Amino acid sequence: MFITFEGIDGSGKSTQCQLLKDSLEDIGYKVFMTREPGGTKIAEAIRNILLHIDEPIEAMTEVFLYCAARNEHLEKIILPKLAEGYIVISDRFFDSTIAYQGGGRGLGIDKMKEINSIFIEKATPDLAFFIDPDLSTIEKRMENKELDRIEKEGIEFMAKVRKGYLDLIESQKNIRNFMTIDGDLSIKEISEIVLKRVEDFLENDRG
Ligand code: TMP
Repeated sequence: MFITFEGIDGSGKSTQCQLLKDSLEDIGYKVFMTREPGGTKIAEAIRNILLHIDEPIEAMTEVFLYCAARNEHLEKIILPKLAEGYIVISDRFFDSTIAYQGGGRGLGIDKMKEINSIFIEKATPDLAFFIDPDLSTIEKRMENKELDRIEKEGIEFMAKVRKGYLDLIESQKNIRNFMTIDGDLSIKEISEIVLKRVEDFLENDRG
């Protein structure tokens, strides 16, 4: 089973990845947790460029760097771990490119879907969770944080990314298991909703 967490920066998804991993391990599942961009040496090096380089990056270069990191991550980590029987939880996957570069950078949802089609065909997540707090919550969380290159784009950019996610989810209605969760609920409430959905999937939807 392949599970991804999505959301704009500061949505609290990384906390939820860890909580889900712990809960599933407690009930006896083999779980592998990973993140994008990242997961291999090459992908982490690309992450470093994407988040910390102090030179503007062309929007399409940004897309291909995220995709290059994704290809390494998918072929070397995600697919092998799924084949070994792990539940794989990834903090972000191709839906991030669709929302950030498609929505945030304005390159278009459909174009980003097309560029990501090789990943969509090979490993569409069984379940994706979109953690969606109010933008004012995100703004507050960003106040005391050292910001990376993408976070520095600010709240207007994040609003466009959020719209990208909402458009994407609307376009996937009845096609994919994409669950939106109110990110202003407590950490515990969100983790309970997530765990219940995963347990339902494991009992009912699988296969
Ligand atoms: P994070 O994993 O710590 O959230 O940082 C990754 C950053 O990169 C975050 O700002 C979202 C952004 N991102 C994209 O813009 N496109 C992508 O395809 C991915 C995976 C991440």
